[in-house]
Amino acid sequence: MKKYALILAAGKGTRMRTEQPKCAFPILGKPMVEYIVENLERTGFDEIVTIVGHKKEVLMDILGDKVTYAVQTEQLGTGHAALSASSVLEDKEGITFILPGDMPLMEYPVMDKILRAHGEMGNDLTIVTMKMDYPKGYGRIVRDEYGTVTKIVEENDCTEYQKSIKEVNSSVYVVDNKKLFEALHKIKRNERKGEFYLTDIVEIMHQTSKVNTFIVRNPLITMGINDLYSVSIAEKHLRDIINKTHMLNGVAILNPESVTIGHDVIIEEGVWIYPNTSIVGKSVVKHGAHVGPNTDVHNSVIEAEAVVRHSVVLDSVVGERSVVGPFAHLRGHANIGPDNRIGNFVEVKNSTTGEGTKAAHLSYIGDSEVGDRVNFGCGSITVNYDGVKKHKTIIGDDVFIGCNVNMVAPLKVANNVFIAAGSTVTKDIPEGSLAIARNQQINKSDYYKHLIKPKDKGTQE
Ligand code: UD1
Ligand code: CA
Repeated sequence: MKKYALILAAGKGTRMRTEQPKCAFPILGKPMVEYIVENLERTGFDEIVTIVGHKKEVLMDILGDKVTYAVQTEQLGTGHAALSASSVLEDKEGITFILPGDMPLMEYPVMDKILRAHGEMGNDLTIVTMKMDYPKGYGRIVRDEYGTVTKIVEENDCTEYQKSIKEVNSSVYVVDNKKLFEALHKIKRNERKGEFYLTDIVEIMHQTSKVNTFIVRNPLITMGINDLYSVSIAEKHLRDIINKTHMLNGVAILNPESVTIGHDVIIEEGVWIYPNTSIVGKSVVKHGAHVGPNTDVHNSVIEAEAVVRHSVVLDSVVGERSVVGPFAHLRGHANIGPDNRIGNFVEVKNSTTGEGTKAAHLSYIGDSEVGDRVNFGCGSITVNYDGVKKHKTIIGDDVFIGCNVNMVAPLKVANNVFIAAGSTVTKDIPEGSLAIARNQQINKSDYYKHLIKPKDKGTQE
């Protein structure tokens, strides 16, 4: 039996009131539709079809060639969205697992259970439902006196009695593929909203086919994200699960409510994470490292026993035992070697440093290759941009750069060089040199009195 997955992700997400399409909105730093596709991949399908429409390029950029796309040009409702897959799926034998693109919390073991239950019960259509104390906004599951499901009624079309029903539609279905398309062709426009509701397949199919429900016990995992408040609930739920898993694996997390760790982050045993810290993307933190407080790490590697405090680290690497921060900014492939010191108000961009290098205060290092044991004095910078192009600075080993030195790129500084404080260096420096590039100081003796007269001294009346 062939298995297909169908994700409905063409909607605007009007209730989100955000620019980007809803299904691309991040949950702990990762677009919600990506969670769905990854779990579907782990469950195993012959084909995953995604319906895209509103700002489709954004979703296609995220999912790439992991899925087949079908386009819904006009957003005329969930039933119309599913029917947009007809060019890819209609006439195929097998079952189709339908999911909305705004339900990121369902993990693959639950998907697996739903598919197995569908087979065991011999259903033509399985509707995944959940029970909610406050079912507002969800379609209600209506049953007859024998308990058989007869239809799903959307909140706005409910009678007062139907509104009190606590069993709701999760918008996840498993359905015989041929019967699905037969039913989809029969859906009529909902008069009030002018949309084609996928939920109407229940009323269409229940007379001729076997329709059943699968009740999910924890309604949080089938929660639909419709607005920014539900984003926060989903993030809280996922954050708790992720942080707990790390803590049980030997990661100390202080004040975990304030710590956000992305779904794909790898953290080794013996790591300490301090309050108000976010580690997301494809990041790795190795054993004995200390991260935070007040630190953002994105797509970066923090090597063993490194310390990163009050800092921002994006697409970068912090070497073993290196100490970063407070208030450092590493970005755009800053590859900091082991035993480095990157101190306050130091920015490193697209650069590598060797072992034991130090930039302790107020430096900018951009587009540079820096060797071992280099010392950047306070305020020393690489001048990498001439207003048109970026240029490279190469600095050897054992270089001492005095305070407030400008190194105008392109520039090569060889090993064992000393650059005098305040120099603006524009020429390469050969090995073993002392470079001084500044005006010589002149002291004019006995001159103070010509500049400052006693009455200027600001004595108070
Ligand atoms: C839907 C269900 C409701 C269920 C709830 C669960 C219908 C009519 N209602 O309501 O019974 O309780 O989900 O979360 O199905 N989409 C398209 N094209 C469209 C419209 C929507 O692709 O023209 C996609 C959206 O991108 C979204 C999904 O379908 O990912 C669900 O749409 P949404 O508008 O969120 O449906 P709900 O009102 O939440
Ligand atoms: Ca929804």
